[in-house]
Amino acid sequence: MITKPLKVFWLSAEIAPWAKVGGLGDVAGSLPKAFSKAEVDIRLCLPYYSSIKTPAELLLKGLKMSLNQKTVKFDVYLTTLPETKIPVYLIKHPLFVGTDIYPKNKSFERFYLWSKAALTLITALDFIPNILHLHDWHAALVTNFLPDFKAEYPAIFSQTKVLYTIHNLANQGSNLKQKTNPLADGIKRADYINTVSPTYAREILTKEFGMGLEKILKSRRRNLSGILNGIDTNFFNPQTDSKIKYNYSIKDLSGKQENKLVLQKKLGLLVDVQKPLLAFVARLSWQKGIELFSDKLFQESIEKFGAQFVFLGEGDESYKKYLVKMAQKYPSHIRLHFGLDLNLAQKLYAASDFFLVPSRFEPCGLTQMMAMRYGSLPIVRQVGGLKDTVDNSVGYIFKDYSSLALQKAIIKALHDFSFQVKVIDKKRQNSMNQDFSWTLAAAKYFKLYQKMVK
Ligand code: GLC
Repeated sequence: MITKPLKVFWLSAEIAPWAKVGGLGDVAGSLPKAFSKAEVDIRLCLPYYSSIKTPAELLLKGLKMSLNQKTVKFDVYLTTLPETKIPVYLIKHPLFVGTDIYPKNKSFERFYLWSKAALTLITALDFIPNILHLHDWHAALVTNFLPDFKAEYPAIFSQTKVLYTIHNLANQGSNLKQKTNPLADGIKRADYINTVSPTYAREILTKEFGMGLEKILKSRRRNLSGILNGIDTNFFNPQTDSKIKYNYSIKDLSGKQENKLVLQKKLGLLVDVQKPLLAFVARLSWQKGIELFSDKLFQESIEKFGAQFVFLGEGDESYKKYLVKMAQKYPSHIRLHFGLDLNLAQKLYAASDFFLVPSRFEPCGLTQMMAMRYGSLPIVRQVGGLKDTVDNSVGYIFKDYSSLALQKAIIKALHDFSFQVKVIDKKRQNSMNQDFSWTLAAAKYFKLYQKMVK
Protein backbone atom coordinates (compact mmCIF):
# COMPACT_ATOMS: atom_id res chain seq x y z
CA MET A 1 0.00 0.00 0.00
CA ILE A 2 1.31 3.39 -0.97
CA THR A 3 0.42 6.17 1.38
CA LYS A 4 -0.13 9.61 0.00
CA PRO A 5 1.77 11.64 -0.99
CA LEU A 6 4.02 9.63 -3.24
CA LYS A 7 7.65 10.06 -2.22
CA VAL A 8 10.03 10.90 -5.02
CA PHE A 9 13.75 11.50 -4.71
CA TRP A 10 15.12 13.32 -7.75
CA LEU A 11 18.74 13.26 -8.86
CA SER A 12 20.06 15.39 -11.67
CA ALA A 13 23.50 16.95 -12.07
CA GLU A 14 21.96 20.32 -12.95
CA ILE A 15 19.21 22.43 -11.41
CA ALA A 16 18.45 25.88 -12.84
CA PRO A 17 19.02 28.63 -11.85
CA TRP A 18 21.96 27.49 -9.70
CA ALA A 19 23.63 24.96 -11.95
CA LYS A 20 22.76 24.95 -15.60
CA VAL A 21 24.62 23.99 -18.73
CA GLY A 22 21.66 23.01 -20.86
CA GLY A 23 18.05 21.94 -20.82
CA LEU A 24 18.55 19.36 -18.08
CA GLY A 25 18.93 22.23 -15.62
CA ASP A 26 15.76 23.92 -16.84
CA VAL A 27 13.75 20.74 -16.47
CA ALA A 28 15.03 20.07 -12.96
CA GLY A 29 14.34 23.65 -11.93
CA SER A 30 10.76 23.64 -13.14
CA LEU A 31 9.08 20.24 -13.50
CA PRO A 32 9.23 19.43 -9.75
CA LYS A 33 7.23 22.61 -9.09
CA ALA A 34 4.38 21.39 -11.27
CA PHE A 35 3.37 18.45 -9.05
CA SER A 36 0.60 18.88 -6.57
CA LYS A 37 2.05 18.84 -3.06
CA ALA A 38 -0.76 16.67 -1.83
CA GLU A 39 0.12 14.03 -4.40
CA VAL A 40 3.90 14.12 -4.64
CA ASP A 41 6.47 14.79 -1.95
CA ILE A 42 9.46 15.45 -4.16
CA ARG A 43 12.99 16.18 -2.98
CA LEU A 44 16.05 16.91 -5.03
CA CYS A 45 19.73 16.33 -4.49
CA LEU A 46 22.62 18.14 -6.15
CA PRO A 47 26.37 18.36 -5.62
CA TYR A 48 27.18 21.59 -3.77
CA TYR A 49 29.22 23.02 -6.65
CA SER A 50 31.28 25.96 -5.48
CA SER A 51 29.49 28.09 -8.08
CA ILE A 52 26.22 27.75 -6.11
CA LYS A 53 25.76 30.91 -4.07
CA THR A 54 22.22 30.43 -2.81
CA PRO A 55 21.82 30.43 1.00
CA ALA A 56 21.65 26.93 2.47
CA GLU A 57 21.69 25.65 6.02
CA LEU A 58 23.90 22.87 7.29
CA LEU A 59 21.67 19.85 7.84
CA LEU A 60 24.03 16.94 8.47
CA LYS A 61 27.70 17.12 9.22
CA GLY A 62 30.27 14.45 8.57
CA LEU A 63 28.12 11.69 7.08
CA LYS A 64 30.28 8.69 6.39
CA MET A 65 30.30 6.07 3.69
CA SER A 66 32.83 3.72 2.22
CA LEU A 67 33.85 4.25 -1.38
CA ASN A 68 36.50 2.16 -3.13
CA GLN A 69 37.51 0.69 0.23
CA LYS A 70 38.06 4.12 1.73
CA THR A 71 35.93 6.00 4.22
CA VAL A 72 34.58 9.18 2.71
CA LYS A 73 33.02 12.02 4.71
CA PHE A 74 30.64 14.64 3.39
CA ASP A 75 28.23 17.32 4.67
CA VAL A 76 24.68 17.95 3.60
CA TYR A 77 23.17 21.43 3.24
CA LEU A 78 19.51 22.14 2.78
CA THR A 79 17.84 24.76 0.65
CA THR A 80 14.60 24.98 -1.33
CA LEU A 81 13.74 25.44 -4.98
CA PRO A 82 13.14 29.17 -5.49
CA GLU A 83 9.61 30.26 -4.57
CA THR A 84 8.69 26.83 -3.21
CA LYS A 85 9.11 24.66 -0.17
CA ILE A 86 10.58 21.82 -2.22
CA PRO A 87 13.72 20.62 -0.42
CA VAL A 88 17.02 20.49 -2.27
CA TYR A 89 19.86 18.67 -0.54
CA LEU A 90 23.32 19.88 -1.45
CA ILE A 91 26.18 17.44 -0.98
CA LYS A 92 29.35 19.16 0.11
CA HIS A 93 32.67 17.52 -0.65
CA PRO A 94 36.03 18.78 -2.00
CA LEU A 95 35.38 16.98 -5.30
CA PHE A 96 32.70 19.57 -6.10
CA VAL A 97 35.04 22.54 -5.89
CA GLY A 98 35.80 24.24 -9.19
CA THR A 99 34.05 26.31 -11.83
CA ASP A 100 32.85 23.58 -14.21
CA ILE A 101 29.95 21.26 -13.56
CA TYR A 102 31.49 18.67 -15.88
CA PRO A 103 35.26 18.91 -15.49
CA LYS A 104 36.97 16.85 -18.16
CA ASN A 105 38.83 14.26 -16.15
CA LYS A 106 36.94 14.45 -12.91
CA SER A 107 33.30 13.97 -13.89
CA PHE A 108 33.04 10.24 -13.35
CA GLU A 109 34.66 10.39 -9.92
CA ARG A 110 32.51 13.34 -9.00
CA PHE A 111 29.13 11.80 -9.85
CA TYR A 112 30.14 8.39 -8.55
CA LEU A 113 30.66 9.92 -5.15
CA TRP A 114 27.49 12.04 -5.38
CA SER A 115 25.38 8.99 -6.28
CA LYS A 116 26.44 6.98 -3.29
CA ALA A 117 26.26 10.03 -1.04
CA ALA A 118 22.64 10.57 -2.12
CA LEU A 119 21.63 7.04 -1.08
CA THR A 120 23.56 7.41 2.15
CA LEU A 121 21.75 10.67 2.79
CA ILE A 122 18.36 9.01 2.32
CA THR A 123 19.21 6.53 5.07
CA ALA A 124 19.72 9.51 7.38
CA LEU A 125 16.40 11.15 6.53
CA ASP A 126 12.92 10.27 7.61
CA PHE A 127 12.00 9.54 4.01
CA ILE A 128 11.16 6.23 2.36
CA PRO A 129 11.33 6.82 -1.38
CA ASN A 130 8.74 5.18 -3.62
CA ILE A 131 10.60 6.41 -6.65
CA LEU A 132 14.19 7.31 -7.36
CA HIS A 133 13.92 9.57 -10.37
CA LEU A 134 17.35 9.57 -12.03
CA HIS A 135 18.39 11.83 -14.89
CA ASP A 136 21.10 11.21 -17.48
CA TRP A 137 24.29 9.24 -16.96
CA HIS A 138 25.47 11.08 -13.85
CA ALA A 139 22.56 9.90 -11.76
CA ALA A 140 22.43 6.47 -13.42
CA LEU A 141 25.46 5.65 -11.27
CA VAL A 142 22.99 5.30 -8.40
CA THR A 143 21.95 1.96 -9.87
CA ASN A 144 25.44 0.61 -9.11
CA PHE A 145 24.91 1.04 -5.41
CA LEU A 146 21.18 0.43 -5.06
CA PRO A 147 21.30 -3.39 -4.73
CA ASP A 148 23.63 -3.11 -1.72
CA PHE A 149 21.42 -0.49 -0.12
CA LYS A 150 18.35 -2.65 -0.72
CA ALA A 151 20.12 -5.50 1.05
CA GLU A 152 21.37 -3.40 3.93
CA TYR A 153 18.31 -1.17 4.43
CA PRO A 154 15.30 -3.20 3.29
CA ALA A 155 12.93 -1.10 5.40
CA ILE A 156 13.89 1.95 3.35
CA PHE A 157 14.62 0.70 -0.14
CA SER A 158 12.97 -2.66 -0.67
CA GLN A 159 9.94 -1.16 -2.44
CA THR A 160 11.83 1.64 -4.18
CA LYS A 161 11.45 1.80 -7.97
CA VAL A 162 13.82 3.51 -10.38
CA LEU A 163 12.64 5.79 -13.17
CA TYR A 164 15.45 6.72 -15.49
CA THR A 165 15.01 9.78 -17.71
CA ILE A 166 17.27 10.16 -20.72
CA HIS A 167 17.73 13.78 -21.74
CA ASN A 168 20.53 13.08 -24.13
CA LEU A 169 21.89 9.80 -25.39
CA ALA A 170 25.05 11.41 -26.71
CA ASN A 171 26.63 11.75 -23.29
CA GLN A 172 27.02 8.27 -21.86
CA GLY A 173 29.67 8.87 -19.22
CA SER A 174 31.75 5.96 -20.46
CA ASN A 175 34.72 5.36 -18.27
CA LEU A 176 37.50 3.32 -19.75
CA LYS A 177 39.34 2.90 -16.47
CA GLN A 178 36.27 1.41 -14.82
CA LYS A 179 35.14 -0.22 -18.07
CA THR A 180 31.63 1.04 -17.55
CA ASN A 181 28.96 2.85 -19.49
CA PRO A 182 26.73 4.45 -16.86
CA LEU A 183 24.00 5.40 -19.30
CA ALA A 184 23.76 1.84 -20.63
CA ASP A 185 23.72 0.52 -17.05
CA GLY A 186 20.88 2.87 -16.22
CA ILE A 187 18.87 1.57 -19.17
CA LYS A 188 19.46 -2.04 -18.16
CA ARG A 189 18.75 -1.64 -14.48
CA ALA A 190 15.95 0.93 -14.24
CA ASP A 191 12.40 -0.28 -13.71
CA TYR A 192 11.20 2.14 -16.33
CA ILE A 193 12.90 4.46 -18.81
CA ASN A 194 11.62 7.58 -20.45
CA THR A 195 12.95 10.20 -22.80
CA VAL A 196 11.91 13.80 -23.09
CA SER A 197 9.72 13.57 -26.20
CA PRO A 198 7.67 10.81 -27.84
CA THR A 199 9.50 11.11 -31.16
CA TYR A 200 12.94 10.79 -29.57
CA ALA A 201 11.70 7.71 -27.68
CA ARG A 202 11.01 6.08 -31.05
CA GLU A 203 14.11 7.41 -32.81
CA ILE A 204 16.56 6.00 -30.31
CA LEU A 205 15.51 2.47 -31.21
CA THR A 206 17.21 3.01 -34.59
CA LYS A 207 20.85 2.91 -35.57
CA GLU A 208 20.80 6.52 -36.71
CA PHE A 209 19.86 7.88 -33.28
CA GLY A 210 20.65 5.03 -30.88
CA MET A 211 24.30 6.04 -30.36
CA GLY A 212 25.26 2.39 -30.17
CA LEU A 213 22.65 1.60 -27.51
CA GLU A 214 19.74 0.83 -29.82
CA LYS A 215 19.89 -2.89 -29.07
CA ILE A 216 19.72 -2.47 -25.32
CA LEU A 217 16.99 0.11 -25.75
CA LYS A 218 15.00 -2.23 -27.97
CA SER A 219 15.26 -4.97 -25.40
CA ARG A 220 13.55 -2.58 -22.96
CA ARG A 221 11.01 -1.09 -25.30
CA ARG A 222 8.04 -2.32 -23.30
CA ASN A 223 9.25 -0.19 -20.42
CA LEU A 224 10.23 2.84 -22.44
CA SER A 225 8.21 5.86 -23.48
CA GLY A 226 8.45 9.57 -24.16
CA ILE A 227 6.99 12.46 -22.21
CA LEU A 228 7.29 15.86 -23.82
CA ASN A 229 9.01 18.49 -21.69
CA GLY A 230 7.39 21.78 -20.84
CA ILE A 231 8.90 25.12 -19.90
CA ASP A 232 8.43 27.45 -16.96
CA THR A 233 5.75 29.65 -18.48
CA ASN A 234 5.78 32.04 -15.53
CA PHE A 235 9.46 32.69 -15.97
CA PHE A 236 9.33 32.81 -19.75
CA ASN A 237 6.54 35.30 -20.12
CA PRO A 238 6.80 38.34 -22.41
CA GLN A 239 4.12 40.08 -20.35
CA THR A 240 6.17 40.11 -17.17
CA ASP A 241 9.78 39.33 -18.13
CA SER A 242 12.01 41.89 -16.42
CA LYS A 243 14.96 41.06 -18.68
CA ILE A 244 13.31 42.75 -21.64
CA LYS A 245 12.74 46.47 -21.94
CA TYR A 246 9.21 46.39 -23.34
CA ASN A 247 6.72 43.82 -22.10
CA TYR A 248 4.06 42.74 -24.54
CA SER A 249 1.35 40.20 -25.16
CA ILE A 250 -0.35 38.48 -28.04
CA LYS A 251 -2.93 41.27 -28.11
CA ASP A 252 -0.40 43.99 -28.79
CA LEU A 253 2.94 43.13 -30.29
CA SER A 254 4.27 46.65 -30.55
CA GLY A 255 6.54 45.96 -27.58
CA LYS A 256 8.15 43.15 -29.51
CA GLN A 257 9.06 45.60 -32.29
CA GLU A 258 10.49 48.01 -29.74
CA ASN A 259 12.63 45.28 -28.24
CA LYS A 260 13.93 44.47 -31.67
CA LEU A 261 15.01 48.07 -32.23
CA VAL A 262 16.70 48.16 -28.82
CA LEU A 263 18.63 44.98 -29.54
CA GLN A 264 19.63 46.02 -33.04
CA LYS A 265 21.01 49.22 -31.61
CA LYS A 266 22.79 47.46 -28.77
CA LEU A 267 24.44 44.99 -31.13
CA GLY A 268 25.39 47.62 -33.69
CA LEU A 269 23.12 46.24 -36.39
CA LEU A 270 21.12 48.41 -38.77
CA VAL A 271 18.18 49.64 -36.69
CA ASP A 272 15.18 48.82 -38.85
CA VAL A 273 12.03 46.81 -38.02
CA GLN A 274 11.76 45.80 -41.65
CA LYS A 275 14.99 43.81 -41.52
CA PRO A 276 14.35 40.22 -40.45
CA LEU A 277 16.24 39.23 -37.31
CA LEU A 278 17.16 35.56 -36.85
CA ALA A 279 18.48 34.16 -33.58
CA PHE A 280 20.38 31.01 -32.67
CA VAL A 281 20.84 30.09 -29.00
CA ALA A 282 22.43 26.76 -28.13
CA ARG A 283 25.46 24.91 -26.90
CA LEU A 284 27.89 25.00 -29.82
CA SER A 285 28.14 21.24 -30.10
CA TRP A 286 27.97 18.51 -32.71
CA GLN A 287 24.30 18.03 -31.89
CA LYS A 288 23.15 21.48 -32.85
CA GLY A 289 23.73 21.58 -36.61
CA ILE A 290 26.04 24.58 -36.78
CA GLU A 291 27.79 23.23 -39.84
CA LEU A 292 24.56 23.58 -41.79
CA PHE A 293 25.00 27.35 -41.85
CA SER A 294 26.73 27.68 -45.20
CA ASP A 295 28.25 30.68 -46.83
CA LYS A 296 25.63 30.39 -49.56
CA LEU A 297 22.85 30.50 -47.00
CA PHE A 298 24.20 33.68 -45.43
CA GLN A 299 24.83 35.23 -48.80
CA GLU A 300 21.32 34.65 -50.13
CA SER A 301 19.57 35.69 -46.90
CA ILE A 302 21.64 38.83 -46.56
CA GLU A 303 21.77 39.95 -50.17
CA LYS A 304 18.12 39.29 -50.98
CA PHE A 305 16.46 40.10 -47.68
CA GLY A 306 18.93 42.09 -45.59
CA ALA A 307 18.67 39.41 -42.89
CA GLN A 308 20.45 39.86 -39.56
CA PHE A 309 21.79 36.84 -37.62
CA VAL A 310 22.70 36.62 -33.95
CA PHE A 311 24.42 33.53 -32.54
CA LEU A 312 24.64 32.98 -28.79
CA GLY A 313 26.31 30.01 -27.16
CA GLU A 314 29.39 28.42 -25.74
CA GLY A 315 31.13 25.33 -27.01
CA ASP A 316 33.55 23.78 -29.46
CA GLU A 317 36.37 25.89 -30.82
CA SER A 318 35.92 24.60 -34.36
CA TYR A 319 32.35 25.92 -34.52
CA LYS A 320 33.38 29.22 -33.03
CA LYS A 321 36.12 29.56 -35.63
CA TYR A 322 33.70 28.91 -38.44
CA LEU A 323 31.18 31.43 -37.14
CA VAL A 324 33.93 34.02 -36.66
CA LYS A 325 34.93 33.53 -40.27
CA MET A 326 31.36 34.11 -41.42
CA ALA A 327 30.93 37.14 -39.18
CA GLN A 328 34.08 38.63 -40.66
CA LYS A 329 32.72 38.11 -44.11
CA TYR A 330 29.36 39.72 -43.29
CA PRO A 331 30.29 42.23 -40.59
CA SER A 332 27.10 44.28 -40.84
CA HIS A 333 24.76 41.31 -40.62
CA ILE A 334 26.16 38.68 -38.26
CA ARG A 335 26.72 39.07 -34.53
CA LEU A 336 28.33 36.49 -32.26
CA HIS A 337 28.23 36.19 -28.52
CA PHE A 338 30.20 33.27 -27.12
CA GLY A 339 29.16 32.39 -23.59
CA LEU A 340 26.14 31.32 -21.59
CA ASP A 341 24.26 34.58 -21.24
CA LEU A 342 20.75 33.77 -20.08
CA ASN A 343 19.64 37.41 -20.02
CA LEU A 344 20.69 37.95 -23.58
CA ALA A 345 18.91 34.73 -24.52
CA GLN A 346 15.63 36.17 -23.25
CA LYS A 347 16.24 39.44 -25.05
CA LEU A 348 16.80 37.44 -28.21
CA TYR A 349 13.57 35.48 -27.92
CA ALA A 350 11.75 38.79 -27.51
CA ALA A 351 13.56 40.71 -30.23
CA SER A 352 13.94 38.14 -32.97
CA ASP A 353 11.52 37.37 -35.78
CA PHE A 354 12.80 33.84 -36.28
CA PHE A 355 14.52 31.29 -34.11
CA LEU A 356 16.86 28.69 -35.60
CA VAL A 357 17.15 25.11 -34.36
CA PRO A 358 18.63 22.97 -37.16
CA SER A 359 19.69 20.11 -34.87
CA ARG A 360 21.20 16.82 -36.00
CA PHE A 361 19.19 15.24 -33.21
CA GLU A 362 17.15 16.83 -30.42
CA PRO A 363 15.76 14.83 -27.49
CA CYS A 364 13.27 17.59 -26.79
CA GLY A 365 14.67 21.07 -27.21
CA LEU A 366 13.32 23.81 -25.00
CA THR A 367 14.47 26.96 -26.74
CA GLN A 368 12.02 26.60 -29.62
CA MET A 369 9.21 26.61 -27.06
CA MET A 370 10.65 29.63 -25.27
CA ALA A 371 11.02 31.44 -28.60
CA MET A 372 7.42 30.67 -29.58
CA ARG A 373 6.18 31.99 -26.28
CA TYR A 374 7.81 35.31 -27.24
CA GLY A 375 6.40 35.17 -30.76
CA SER A 376 9.67 34.33 -32.50
CA LEU A 377 8.89 31.80 -35.22
CA PRO A 378 10.92 28.60 -35.02
CA ILE A 379 12.78 27.29 -38.07
CA VAL A 380 13.60 23.73 -37.11
CA ARG A 381 14.62 20.36 -38.40
CA GLN A 382 11.93 17.70 -38.09
CA VAL A 383 13.63 15.61 -35.48
CA GLY A 384 12.98 14.51 -31.89
CA GLY A 385 11.08 16.97 -29.75
CA LEU A 386 11.31 19.61 -32.46
CA LYS A 387 8.97 17.46 -34.48
CA ASP A 388 6.59 17.17 -31.54
CA THR A 389 6.42 20.91 -30.95
CA VAL A 390 6.74 22.64 -34.34
CA ASP A 391 4.74 22.29 -37.54
CA ASN A 392 3.82 24.61 -40.39
CA SER A 393 1.11 26.29 -38.39
CA VAL A 394 3.63 27.83 -35.98
CA GLY A 395 6.92 27.92 -37.87
CA TYR A 396 9.06 26.51 -40.65
CA ILE A 397 10.31 22.97 -40.90
CA PHE A 398 12.75 20.96 -42.97
CA LYS A 399 13.70 17.33 -43.05
CA ASP A 400 17.14 16.51 -44.43
CA TYR A 401 20.22 17.19 -42.42
CA SER A 402 21.68 19.38 -45.16
CA SER A 403 22.70 22.98 -45.69
CA LEU A 404 20.41 23.22 -48.66
CA ALA A 405 17.35 22.09 -46.72
CA LEU A 406 18.04 24.64 -43.98
CA GLN A 407 18.72 27.32 -46.55
CA LYS A 408 15.39 26.65 -48.28
CA ALA A 409 13.46 26.82 -45.02
CA ILE A 410 15.13 30.09 -44.07
CA ILE A 411 14.52 31.62 -47.49
CA LYS A 412 10.86 30.61 -47.34
CA ALA A 413 10.55 32.28 -43.95
CA LEU A 414 12.32 35.43 -45.14
CA HIS A 415 10.15 35.54 -48.21
CA ASP A 416 7.01 35.38 -46.08
CA PHE A 417 8.44 38.06 -43.83
CA SER A 418 8.86 40.42 -46.77
CA PHE A 419 5.81 39.56 -48.84
CA GLN A 420 3.29 37.56 -46.77
CA VAL A 421 2.80 39.53 -43.62
CA LYS A 422 -0.52 37.81 -42.94
CA VAL A 423 1.10 34.38 -42.96
CA ILE A 424 3.68 35.57 -40.45
CA ASP A 425 1.06 37.18 -38.24
CA LYS A 426 -1.01 34.01 -38.19
CA LYS A 427 1.97 31.83 -37.28
CA ARG A 428 2.95 34.28 -34.57
CA GLN A 429 -0.53 34.13 -33.07
CA ASN A 430 -0.49 30.35 -33.21
CA SER A 431 2.98 30.19 -31.66
CA MET A 432 2.09 32.43 -28.77
CA ASN A 433 -1.14 30.52 -28.19
CA GLN A 434 0.57 27.17 -27.60
CA ASP A 435 0.41 25.74 -24.11
CA PHE A 436 3.95 24.75 -23.13
CA SER A 437 3.35 24.72 -19.39
CA TRP A 438 4.41 21.70 -17.34
CA THR A 439 0.85 20.82 -16.37
CA LEU A 440 0.40 18.11 -18.95
CA ALA A 441 3.83 16.56 -18.49
CA ALA A 442 3.54 16.60 -14.69
CA ALA A 443 0.25 14.70 -14.95
CA LYS A 444 1.95 12.13 -17.19
CA TYR A 445 4.91 11.71 -14.84
CA PHE A 446 2.54 11.36 -11.91
CA LYS A 447 0.63 8.64 -13.73
CA LEU A 448 3.85 6.87 -14.56
CA TYR A 449 5.08 7.06 -10.95
CA GLN A 450 1.78 5.57 -9.84
CA LYS A 451 1.93 2.79 -12.38
CA MET A 452 5.46 1.93 -11.30
CA VAL A 453 4.71 1.59 -7.62
CA LYS A 454 1.47 -0.36 -8.02
C1 GLC B 1 19.13 17.92 -23.30
C2 GLC B 1 18.66 17.72 -24.72
C3 GLC B 1 17.51 18.65 -25.07
C4 GLC B 1 16.43 18.56 -24.01
C5 GLC B 1 17.04 18.82 -22.64
C6 GLC B 1 16.02 18.74 -21.52
O1 GLC B 1 19.78 19.16 -23.19
O2 GLC B 1 19.73 17.92 -25.63
O3 GLC B 1 16.94 18.31 -26.31
O4 GLC B 1 15.43 19.52 -24.26
O5 GLC B 1 18.05 17.88 -22.39
O6 GLC B 1 15.35 17.52 -21.46
